[in-house]
Amino acid sequence: MCSDHKKVDTRKGKLYGIGIGPGDPGLLTIKAKEILDEVDIIFVPKSEDDGKSCARSIIERALSGKKDFTELTFPMTRNKKTLKAYWKKAAGKIAGEVRGNKNAAFVTIGDPFIFSTYIYLSKTLRQDFPDVDIETIPGISSFNAASSRLELPLVEGNERLAILPVPKDLKGLRATLKSFDTVILMKVASKLDKVIRLLKEVKLIKNSALITHAGHPNEAIIRDLSSIKDKKLGYLSVIIVKRKNRS
Ligand SMILES: C[S@@+](CC[C@H](N)C(=O)[O-])C[C@H]1O[C@@H](n2cnc3c(N)ncnc32)[C@H](O)[C@@H]1O
Repeated sequence: MCSDHKKVDTRKGKLYGIGIGPGDPGLLTIKAKEILDEVDIIFVPKSEDDGKSCARSIIERALSGKKDFTELTFPMTRNKKTLKAYWKKAAGKIAGEVRGNKNAAFVTIGDPFIFSTYIYLSKTLRQDFPDVDIETIPGISSFNAASSRLELPLVEGNERLAILPVPKDLKGLRATLKSFDTVILMKVASKLDKVIRLLKEVKLIKNSALITHAGHPNEAIIRDLSSIKDKKLGYLSVIIVKRKNRS
């Protein structure tokens, strides 16, 4: 028998790191929604100080009432020193609220432990504020949504699956495409052109599909990658490549 799940712990300050799914508010789990409705404060990430938080717009469509939001900026940079400074600043703000006996949530797109700022933020919190209690709530990842929207099973039987961000140098990707039955490419962004060229070269272009902004109002599904003209389609996109074409 399945046991009853525990709701938010209201006795003391705690941080919930919550995966909110890829974009469709309907893909927020019941547990995530219950916790978000109950916490005192919700921290939302965004990439620019004056920009919009994508995560905030997703949960605002799902929550029952008005909530107290605090936006935290994490700039899009590879500079580790800069990033660390932002993780530390954010960890300090969160710890301040939790130590003041508030229950807080930090929301993250998809699943919190898949290519997420939350991974670095929670490590920073554990290191700098070990007394802060943290619970991570899983979410539906963008690649789960992608496979369902595309009606493409990810793996069956003894098949092997690889999930990776598109690397700068595509040499390694060639080998991955040969050794795995299904390859999920995330963080495509400006490398879309290069990926399409490689998929043509290795004759897998017809076995590939792309979904951009899955679950968002501007979602687009592209089954013929060679037809892509708009290179911006790589942003917030997942490509699924199957080694064997079963259609
Ligand atoms: C920083 S990672 C976050 C991944 C997220 N934690 C997850 O579980 O899906 C961002 C990448 O996730 C993918 N992604 C996130 N949301 C998406 C969506 N709604 N549609 C398509 N791809 C998405 C894209 O590959 C994007 O470059």
